[in-house]
Amino acid sequence: MPRSTEANTDARLNAFATGNSTSAGPDGNLNYGLLNQQLQGLIDNETDAIANLANAAALLWQELPKINWVGFYLLKQEQLVLGPFQGKPACSRIPVGEGVCGTAAVMGRTIVVADVHQFPGHIACDLASKSEIVVPLWRDGQLLGLLDIDSPVVDRFDYVDQQGLEELMQTLLARLELPL
Ligand code: SME
Repeated sequence: MPRSTEANTDARLNAFATGNSTSAGPDGNLNYGLLNQQLQGLIDNETDAIANLANAAALLWQELPKINWVGFYLLKQEQLVLGPFQGKPACSRIPVGEGVCGTAAVMGRTIVVADVHQFPGHIACDLASKSEIVVPLWRDGQLLGLLDIDSPVVDRFDYVDQQGLEELMQTLLARLELPL
């Protein structure tokens, strides 16, 4: 590897190696614009889907406060199959139409659940989870999978989170080599 490429890679990775949140604004709120730039930097020179999904999950895990699980489910033969994630081990497969994830897959749009115990059919992979957001991953009219984030706090995700996460997924989707 040429020395300059090595230095660039080191600089990029060092920004994430501290384990500290680097995307908080002066008011302590998450700055999704900055987070989007960080994601862009992480995946810019990589098109491998697993590598980019894994780094996106790790970045969100590091930067989003008050979450206990973040990861991807990928659509394979009418089932949502567990992809790269951070948090406790989770259900490997979710049928389309079941749970929050399967419902978001059918509806084809983001679902924000303020209290998962009020959502009929919610699949509890971790009893600590109290609220959840699921963002479908669409490219060229095709549903590829979903981003799923759980929080141990009721009503954790608002419209700012929804918009920010949807924009982050657009950045990620532009850098996924298909088929997954
Ligand atoms: N709660 C999800 C299942 C996946 S876990 O949260 C990781 C659902 O109801 O679809």
